[in-house]
Formats: sequence, structure tokens, C-alpha cells
Amino acid sequence: MSFDRSIKIAPSILSADFANFGQEIQAIESQGADWVHIDVMDGHFVPNLTFGPMAVKAFRPHVKTVMDVHLMIAPVDPYIDAYADAGADVLTAHIEAGPHIHRTLQAIRAAGIKAGVALNPGTPAEAVAHLLDLTDLICVMTVNPGFGGQKFIDMTSKIRSLRSMIGDRPVHIEIDGGVDPSTAPLVAEAGADVLVAGSAVFKGGSVNDPDVYGANIRNIRDAANGVWA
Ligand code: DX5
Ligand code: ZN
Repeated sequence: MSFDRSIKIAPSILSADFANFGQEIQAIESQGADWVHIDVMDGHFVPNLTFGPMAVKAFRPHVKTVMDVHLMIAPVDPYIDAYADAGADVLTAHIEAGPHIHRTLQAIRAAGIKAGVALNPGTPAEAVAHLLDLTDLICVMTVNPGFGGQKFIDMTSKIRSLRSMIGDRPVHIEIDGGVDPSTAPLVAEAGADVLVAGSAVFKGGSVNDPDVYGANIRNIRDAANGVWA
């Protein structure tokens, strides 16, 4: 994984056909996805349940790009090795998930993979001020985590603060929730480079009609890059 700040689209398979993940991953990657975003939910930190390490391990051979695993679980630390062994390239934990995020980020890096920290909408940018050299990605939640298809919450001032705090460090700013062609330009202009999108990528398409995924991904990317159709 080399570092750059170009816009990367990371479809969330939370909006995919749950009976057909292998083909869905192949379809979005063949249609231009840069990363594949996997939302892990525990029914405790967030009010929904999704993928354990065995499911994530089963996705791994299908992912040819970057497997970006977003842990919405508490506690985090007992599961780091399991998700690292499952093949995550990036493992992101929420700062709100426990008292020792510093230790969590160290443990993720010690597992040999990239470490991300996610911030709920109510958590200020300053919460990561002492973590900037321990993290490879800061995920700014633009919805309250737990479900796809929610309305975008404007966090552009938080994104701008983070971008300035990060300076020249090789730290991605990822945006998660309600990203579509209308909201992508706001977050890109504020300094984000990884855009997670679930419903806006999968809507209207299927593995039998993957061109729709391609058009949806292109529309988000073009909007973020300031290209207007
Ligand atoms: C929300 C998840 C998101 C979600 C995004 O808890 O972390 O990744 O799938 O879905 P959309 O793009 O539909 O808001
Ligand atoms: Zn997510």
C-alpha cells in the first residue's frame, strides 16, 4: 500500500447482496473501486451485527485491492489479531470504543498492518492530537455508525482541522456515511482522500448489471475531483 492523497473510492459491502459477496467484490473492483470497505458491527458498540473474523477471512481472496476493515466493536483489543490474521490491510478502531486507543493503535501496527482511528460525529478533531504519529488513517464518521443509507452530517470543519493537524504526515482522511455525488465535493475540498460509499455505489446495480456500479463510482469520483458532467 503506497501513500497518496488522490481520491479513492471505497465501496462498503454493507450495501451488497449478502448472499453473494465474492461476486459483489469482484464486480465493484472491476468497475473501479480503489479499496473495499468492510463494516464490522457487534450489536453492542453499535445497534447492528455483521461480520466476524471468519467472514472477513472468506472475503480476503476476492479482494485484489485494499481490504479496509472498520471495527465498530467494543472492546477492540481482544479481536485485533483475529482480524489481522483474516487479512485486513487497514484495521480501524473507534476512539470511543475504549479507554486505551493509544494501546489499540500500537497493537494494530504490531500485527503488521495499517492502523486507523474512527471518530463519531460528536467527537472533536482534537481527540486525535496525540495519536497522529501512531495512525495511518483517520475515519471521520458523517453518520452515527450502525447502518447504511443514513443522511450525511456535515463535518467539513472537523475535516479541515484534521487536515491541518496532519500536515505532511502520511495519514489518510477517510469519510464514512452518506457520501454521494452531492456530498463528495464538500469532503474532498475539506481535505478527505478516501470516500466510503455504500448505498450510493450499489444502488440500481447488481452483479448482473455491474456497469451501474461503475457509473455510480465514477459519478462520486468525478464530483470529488471537481469534474462536472
Ligand atoms: C455506517 C458504516 C458505513 C456505511 C456507509 O455505520 O460504517 O460504512 O456502510 O453507508 P452509506 O454510504 O449508505 O451511508
Ligand atoms: Zn464503515
